[in-house]
Amino acid sequence: MDTPQKFSPLTIALHWLIAFAMIAMLAVGFYMSIYEVYPLYDWHKSFGVAIFAVILLRVWWRIKNGWPKPLREYPQFQQRLARVTHWVLIIGTLLMPISGMLYSGLGGWGIKVFGWVMVPGNKNPATGQTEPIHAGLAQLGAFTHEWLGYVLVVTVLLHMAGALKHHLFDRDRTLLRMLGR
Ligand code: HEM
Ligand code: HEM
Repeated sequence: MDTPQKFSPLTIALHWLIAFAMIAMLAVGFYMSIYEVYPLYDWHKSFGVAIFAVILLRVWWRIKNGWPKPLREYPQFQQRLARVTHWVLIIGTLLMPISGMLYSGLGGWGIKVFGWVMVPGNKNPATGQTEPIHAGLAQLGAFTHEWLGYVLVVTVLLHMAGALKHHLFDRDRTLLRMLGR
């Protein structure tokens, strides 16, 4: 379990694994959809589903373990901003893979995870066109996936700036604590 002085190895491992995976997924997601790099789609979906399992473990651990306690009394505005940022990040990590699966699965595109067919595609044999299994939910998934993507980019930048501020200006152990030092 975490203590105010030291985080458990599980907290640290889950934070950094998911942090780097999310940054990579955001970058690849925007890149492949803007430049229409279709060969990357199956890789994006495969890693997205795989990291979802780790994200669920992290959410369970966060509920069991509680949120990190600030190292000292910061101004109330800063503490509130940090809390809101952490909530957006953790909910965002849950909703990105869920919305991606809704979009691909119910949009009829199908989901293959490292070659294993998790949800088959839905092509109309007569027309050869991909048809949605549930158009409304697929659209909700697509909308959430794209817009939450933008929100997360801004929130991650804010979160990184906060970590740097603690390290460089406040000169406290917030970043070092998450690095296990
Ligand atoms: C794990 C976290 C994930 C992150 C951070 C993420 C991020 C993104 C981002 C930023 C985009 C570009 C914006 C957009 O066009 O929607 C994107 C596109 C896409 N993502 Fe994800 N994604 C994740 C998981 C998944 C999963 C699990 C699936 C499906 C199983 C998926 C399927 C897709 C598809 C099909 C696109 C292309 C959308 C298009 O071209 O219109 N994503 N992703
Ligand atoms: C290189 C980039 C990153 C740095 C330097 C960083 C740094 C930190 C630090 C120092 C903390 C501890 C805050 C405290 O003690 O109050 C923290 C917590 C947290 N970070 Fe990051 N982080 C980064 C990227 C990310 C990303 C990409 C995500 C998710 C998308 C994320 C999600 C979280 C969450 C949810 C917490 C709350 C504690 C937890 O659930 O483990 N971080 N981060």
